[in-house]
Amino acid sequence: MKILGIETSCDETAAAVVKDGTKILSNIVASSAEMHAKTGGVIPEAAARAQIISILPVVQKAMEKAKCQASDIDTIAVTVGPGLIGSLLVGIETARTLTRLWQKPVIPVNHLVAHIYANWLITNRQTPIIKLPNFPALALVVSGGHTDLVLMRGHGKLEWVGGTRDDAAGEAFDKSARLLNLPYPGGPSIAKKAQVFSDKSPNFRLNLLPRPMIHALNFDWSFSGLKTAVLREVNHRPLTISHSQLAAEVQEAIVDILVAKTLRAVKKFKPKSLLLAGGVAANSCLREKFTLSIQHLAFGIDFRVPDPKLCTDNAAYIAGCAYFNQAPLPWPDIEANPELTIIGQ
Ligand code: KG4
Ligand code: ZN
Repeated sequence: MKILGIETSCDETAAAVVKDGTKILSNIVASSAEMHAKTGGVIPEAAARAQIISILPVVQKAMEKAKCQASDIDTIAVTVGPGLIGSLLVGIETARTLTRLWQKPVIPVNHLVAHIYANWLITNRQTPIIKLPNFPALALVVSGGHTDLVLMRGHGKLEWVGGTRDDAAGEAFDKSARLLNLPYPGGPSIAKKAQVFSDKSPNFRLNLLPRPMIHALNFDWSFSGLKTAVLREVNHRPLTISHSQLAAEVQEAIVDILVAKTLRAVKKFKPKSLLLAGGVAANSCLREKFTLSIQHLAFGIDFRVPDPKLCTDNAAYIAGCAYFNQAPLPWPDIEANPELTIIGQ
């Protein structure tokens, strides 16, 4: 079954064709991030305008790369939320139009749930014998606007375990980057700057910044205090602490908190798989710390994290998610829901 996925929730315009939920036939992403770097963050109106310019060429390219005609596509899948309303509408209206034109079913997709399905996508690096993730699976979704921990008992059977009470992990990266005069998006900029520090001082103990709620007996996070702590350091010790050290401190603090709370949940729920997802899952420090911590567990767990390119926004996981959660709707009922949560409320 071939699904054309469309993703336009924020500043990426993406289309992909995926076969049977796992095999990527094409995956095209156009990003307006460079434009937002000039303004230090996403301006919704500007993002929506960029979506309009890119959407048709991106869909066309995805179809061409997959060597598909309309008649080869079985279903269209589109992100309906959460996200920026103007950006979401561009993808939704495109999907509705193609649905009518091509006479295909259309499946609405929750962007946050879809991020998790990057773990079902097969990349060239993997061997031909593929084992898909087993349930129950614990999934940590760390994106620009959301940080959620969910227990998946099966496809479409999600239980919310915990999440952030204020800023998301990606937001903590992005806001700290601004304070350090590093370009948007902040996550990759902080990671790059942190690398400069760790190359110079590989054994330095990074414990300058607080780890809010790390010892609280729950599965929640709070990241908003981190940017205040960064601001304090920037203002009060500009000559003694370098920006590269601060970048490394921010990264280490965010990673420590994410790993600690997720492992607490792993120990409680003892899932068969642990799945990372979302843009922040592209962070190599986070990936390495999870890999190391998992090795110290008393029981085995199948730990998965998608290829970094599949962690950040793309449409391959939108198509993948639609394949495993097939619930088509009549096209007039497909609506944007900017506030959609990971458990669909
Ligand atoms: O999932 P995503 O691509 O878009 C949303 O759905 O929000 O996530 C974007 C977030 C941004 O906050 C960005 O700074 C962060 O992911 N990010 C990273 C890295 N790459 C992207 N954070 C840390 N390290 C990275 N390498
Ligand atoms: Zn995303």
